Amino acid sequence: MLSKKVALTGLLMTMSVSSFAHANCKASPLHEDMDTLKTEMKSLAFEVKKEDYASADARIDRIIAVLKDAREEKPYLFTEKGLEGAELNQRMADYQSVMDDTITAFVALDKAVADKDASSAKMALGEIGNLRKKGHRAFKADC
Ligand code: HEM
Repeated sequence: MLSKKVALTGLLMTMSVSSFAHANCKASPLHEDMDTLKTEMKSLAFEVKKEDYASADARIDRIIAVLKDAREEKPYLFTEKGLEGAELNQRMADYQSVMDDTITAFVALDKAVADKDASSAKMALGEIGNLRKKGHRAFKADC
């Protein structure tokens, strides 16, 4: 009976810790940048579809600024794993390299939009989608 109580208390404690971690990971500056990216990407897709290239151009510049900001933030996964020192530096470098590739893909999209080149724009958007998947698979905590 006592052990059941202890187990229940343990379970409740684990739940509250994990919900705390959950709140923590959703409140980070990186998470905020990512939420902004999601909203901006929706508007961008709409503008590209409407062939409103002037608005798309300005939006891509804003997206690139958000990505540059996100590049300097530490993914929550690294905090959760307690990474420090050389290991943290290595994983940050990996993260920043995928961010750099993503920025490069948005620069290519910017050019395609300026040239009103729909087929290059589509290719760049595909590449961005792949980098998003790659970044999330490698660096996003499951929280
Ligand atoms: C256009 C591209 C992208 C979009 C629209 C996007 C969107 C998002 C969204 C909506 C979330 C929150 C998901 C949730 O609620 O759990 C998120 C989280 C995250 N994304 Fe992205 N993402 C993009 C690209 C990337 C790239 C390229 C990387 C890495 C190089 C990345 C790394 C992360 C990480 C690490 C988190 C978790 C937040 C944290 O650790 O604080 N994302 N992203």
